Amino acid sequence: MIDLNGKVAIVTGSARGLGKGIALKLAELNAHVVVSDLNEEGTSSTAQEINDSGKSAEPFVANVAESASAKRLVEETVQKHGKLDIVVNNAGINKDSMLHKMEESAWQQVIDVNLTGVYNVMQPASIQMREQQAGRIINISSASWLGNVGQANYSAAKAGVVGLTKTASRELGKKNVTVNAICPGFIETDMTRAVPENVWDLMVSKISMGRAGKPEDVANCIAFLSSDQAEYITGEVINVGGGMVL
Ligand code: CAA
Repeated sequence: MIDLNGKVAIVTGSARGLGKGIALKLAELNAHVVVSDLNEEGTSSTAQEINDSGKSAEPFVANVAESASAKRLVEETVQKHGKLDIVVNNAGINKDSMLHKMEESAWQQVIDVNLTGVYNVMQPASIQMREQQAGRIINISSASWLGNVGQANYSAAKAGVVGLTKTASRELGKKNVTVNAICPGFIETDMTRAVPENVWDLMVSKISMGRAGKPEDVANCIAFLSSDQAEYITGEVINVGGGMVL
């Protein structure tokens, strides 16, 4: 049984969807979770739901795309709790469009949140984790990092997250900090529910297990990577996609 008692975890983008599933799982395993999102109402309600269940969480409204905001998230968490054990970089958006129709703003916004946002949190987190000589960073990439029709911006950002993860794992390994990426396949959330019906069917047809995943499927993998049992796993890119091949 995984027990994260005494651990302090930040989960970005955890007001709803996949991030909320991750926050609930880490809290269920007794971590104190800093529920962070741009969405103030969702941030408070996820934290409230955790506290109401007898577990421990606090809301923190932050915009990971702004470096000052991300820095505040990390530094205030460390100030308050004296350490930072786990960071899950989950915050992400999509603005799907075929490349020939893609507006520059759709490109830039997705890169700002999904790639620069991960850097903005990891940079101050890495300073703290180097100092404390311990830590777990888990970045949410995507099966799309290998290419997906309509997602030039999203795939590029998620591929960038893989490179960032691998480099950070090399730099931080000797400091006892592990850095891994998870590539969810097609997970049932508001984001995937928004695709056209024919695309939904097409995506599910590419999944060996014949169904979309659930946030808990990804959260279980994150729980393992956060645990003592995963202390020797770093620099890995792990697919959680029911055997999906895009
Ligand atoms: N594979 C192959 N071909 C595809 C395709 C796919 N997944 N999706 C669309 N196409 C084809 C269409 O069949 C069409 O072909 P023709 O021109 O020969 O008819 C062509 O691409 C253009 O498609 P549309 O007519 O749909 O073009 P559009 O401009 O109206 O819309 C789109 C394009 C916005 C990209 C729309 O197709 C769409 O939303 N696709 C879904 C993109 C997607 O997979 N998003 C994943 C969201 S989930 C997520 O992001 C989480 C994660 O981590 C995976």
